[in-house]
Amino acid sequence: MAENILSIDTVALDEEKKALKIIDQTQLPGKVEILYLTSQEDIYQAIYLLKVRGAPAIGVAAAIGVYLAALDIEESSYDGFYSLFKKAKDYLASSRPTAVNLFWALDRMERVVLEHKGESPAKLKELLHDEAIRIRDEDIEVCKAIGEHGLELIRDGDGILTHCNAGQLATVRYGTALAPVHLGRERGMNFKVFCDETRPLLQGARLSSFEMVSAGVDTTLICDNMASMVMKNGWVKACFVGCDRVAANGDAANKIGTSGVAIMAKHYGIPFYVCAPTSTIDMSIKEGRDIVIEERKAGEVTDMWYREPMAPEGVKVYNPAFDVTEHMLITAIITEFGITRPPYSENLKLVFQKKNNNLPH
Ligand code: MRU
Repeated sequence: MAENILSIDTVALDEEKKALKIIDQTQLPGKVEILYLTSQEDIYQAIYLLKVRGAPAIGVAAAIGVYLAALDIEESSYDGFYSLFKKAKDYLASSRPTAVNLFWALDRMERVVLEHKGESPAKLKELLHDEAIRIRDEDIEVCKAIGEHGLELIRDGDGILTHCNAGQLATVRYGTALAPVHLGRERGMNFKVFCDETRPLLQGARLSSFEMVSAGVDTTLICDNMASMVMKNGWVKACFVGCDRVAANGDAANKIGTSGVAIMAKHYGIPFYVCAPTSTIDMSIKEGRDIVIEERKAGEVTDMWYREPMAPEGVKVYNPAFDVTEHMLITAIITEFGITRPPYSENLKLVFQKKNNNLPH
């Protein structure tokens, strides 16, 4: 029997091969191909092309990627090492603009080098290795905590709607939005999950529904424009989504279409929860309109999933990869530190106080 996708690491460091190991998510669900990437160009392309995707997984991939870049640096002086390290860091940071985890993880890696000024490159490489592994391990712990807190908000048998994929395939394990479902499943609970297909790259159809079916969850795939009907039918008790960057006021950027789901949820009186590890909260950004939204190629809309182009040649295409859900549409933001409710401008600060005081999740 083929190996269950959930037993394969989404993103890891292969110590022997000195490679970034990922599942190529562009090929799922049809083909499970594991990639071992060593060159910076390949790692950049893997992030840009969404072979590894989802904010936390991108962060972990970048941390491992920049560690691998450091390994290749042959400079013997600290300054020489740092300047090449910084170049590699900036290169990986330019692979995608919206998910703050990419910058957060790379900044953490850079801090290791800066805090050990004057250290030998050999020692710096060791320290960078340990930091990359820590970033990866912490992701598992954080996602599990988000799952535990999310479970407090739902009951066995509930219908849950999700958009895009903020599941295990977007993290190291468990996911964020789908963590409560995975944890609940481990405990014998059964939720009914509705996956929006998530045009144009179909992360809901190809990834979330695959992940949910693989976990043995009662899964229903719907086209994005069916969500309203499903909500109206009374089948959805809660919406759970992930996010790529939360601003200090609680506005949350997530996969394109998320804000529409939030608007519909409000209309039907359904709670709308955003699951966000603190690594996805960017307190330096005041509000959602300041978040850079990635725009992608027209072909993803017009050609990618069709035998022939399905739109007339020359038509203008607008293809933003994310949108911003305004904070007033969000019932709660679930972090590893618990369930945060409005007013977010005040309450998100409290989350970071807990984090800075090393309080438990
Ligand atoms: O373009 P993608 O597939 O990287 O977009 C992913 C999402 O929008 C996820 O919901 C988000 O990154 C959270 S993943 C836990």
